[in-house]
Amino acid sequence: MASKFKDRIRGKKAKVAVIGQGYVGLPLAVEFAKKGFKALGVDLDKKKVDSINSGVSYILDIPSEEIKPLVKKGMLSATSDYSKLNEVDAIIICVPTPLRKTKDPDMSFIVSAAEAIAKNLRKGQVIVLESTTYPGTTEEVILPMLEATGLKVGRDFSLGFSPERIDPGNPRYMTHNIPKVVSGMTKECRENIALLYSQIVGKVITVSSVKVAEMVKLLENTFRSVNIGLVNELALMCDSLKVDVWEIIEAAKTKPFGFMPFYPGPGLGGHCIPIDPIYLAWKARIQGFEPRFIDLASKINADMPEYVAERVSRSLNKRFGKAVKGAKVLIIGLSYKKDVTDTRESPAYEVIEKLRERGAAISYYDPFVPVSVFGGHKMRSIKLSAAEVRKNDCVVIVTDHSNVDYSFIVNNSKLVIDTRNALRNIVKRDKIERL
Ligand SMILES: NC(=O)c1ccc[n+]([C@@H]2O[C@H](COP(=O)([O-])OP(=O)(O)OC[C@H]3O[C@@H](n4cnc5c(N)ncnc54)[C@H](O)[C@@H]3O)[C@@H](O)[C@H]2O)c1
Repeated sequence: MASKFKDRIRGKKAKVAVIGQGYVGLPLAVEFAKKGFKALGVDLDKKKVDSINSGVSYILDIPSEEIKPLVKKGMLSATSDYSKLNEVDAIIICVPTPLRKTKDPDMSFIVSAAEAIAKNLRKGQVIVLESTTYPGTTEEVILPMLEATGLKVGRDFSLGFSPERIDPGNPRYMTHNIPKVVSGMTKECRENIALLYSQIVGKVITVSSVKVAEMVKLLENTFRSVNIGLVNELALMCDSLKVDVWEIIEAAKTKPFGFMPFYPGPGLGGHCIPIDPIYLAWKARIQGFEPRFIDLASKINADMPEYVAERVSRSLNKRFGKAVKGAKVLIIGLSYKKDVTDTRESPAYEVIEKLRERGAAISYYDPFVPVSVFGGHKMRSIKLSAAEVRKNDCVVIVTDHSNVDYSFIVNNSKLVIDTRNALRNIVKRDKIERL
């Protein structure tokens, strides 16, 4: 089985299917297509499938000009028809892994993808899970479903885990130049999977087991969550101590070793950092281990929107003797981080909710998110004009997109609460308050 797969990879004859054509899956399918492998994007969302097949991208990091020629040459196509999985050599799973309302992992997307693969599994195929999940998922959830077909891992098909590490909106690091950690259920599985990814990324790192690979991703994201939690707490401390947290970080990061800067903010967002550590904590608890750092960091980070709303309320009161009730507040940036359209888990929503609870009237400006529906409200981004900005008692910068004219906002507003240090290059003015 192995040599046939390897031959098809080396001869660029292998076809690769990527299940889930979102922020992770579409760039991955495009990368395989660019490197000369026929790539099939599989998604239940018909709009995404139609969009890919007509050469139109819906992911900012992937321009349509990149997709169009690949579709035209027949190197990239998309489908919602799982039976096509039977025709490919490798299948990579990039479906979402959200939390349930109860904060337990929602494995339904992984399970339904694995069911689809099991129905179409054939000898010689290589299956890789990329979705971030708790350690043990590949072996405990996917493997039994695939082996229930009668085929055996290592003998009939390969299975492994390779964590996705993309950073949407990052122009420097993209799928092809981010080193890839890979693993397999057996040595042969690992070799096949390493060979597969070595076709599209410069550096492949193999680890000894799938559980190690699953944990690598969780360490990376927990590291971020905990350090952001630490620096968020430091920001609150600095507020009490009346020192500038940003100046402290700038000075501390001049140390050439043993320090890595993290920055405070209005709270965590996106599909990774606020969620993945909770997957790990959930699994640890099942094993009888009580994680402490993860919960503490999650709590500190989750409290940041409340702090931002409190800060708005305090500043309006102190500066203008004005209550937040009835005040007009403009939120700048709705997406969870700079230069992306993704609003999943964005702290902006929480900030808005907390301010609304206090009676503020909210509008927002985000060039990446023209329309948004949340909490039963449909909102449209305002058009940035002096008159629109001046209408407000306070402006809160939640996301610092590169293409926003912050000096224009500062010039026209009465008070700006800057939670991202977006105004660092603007001459200090009395009306700016930093987190
Ligand atoms: N977005 C990121 O920055 C990022 C970074 C690293 C890792 N990850 C991880 O990668 C995984 C995917 O994240 P994403 O941001 O690409 O999600 P996404 O929501 O952008 O994309 C997932 C896609 O999967 C499709 N889908 C869901 N169930 C399906 C099924 N059964 N069959 C076919 N298609 C299905 C959805 O329609 C959607 O298009 C998650 O586990 C996430 O934690 C995401």
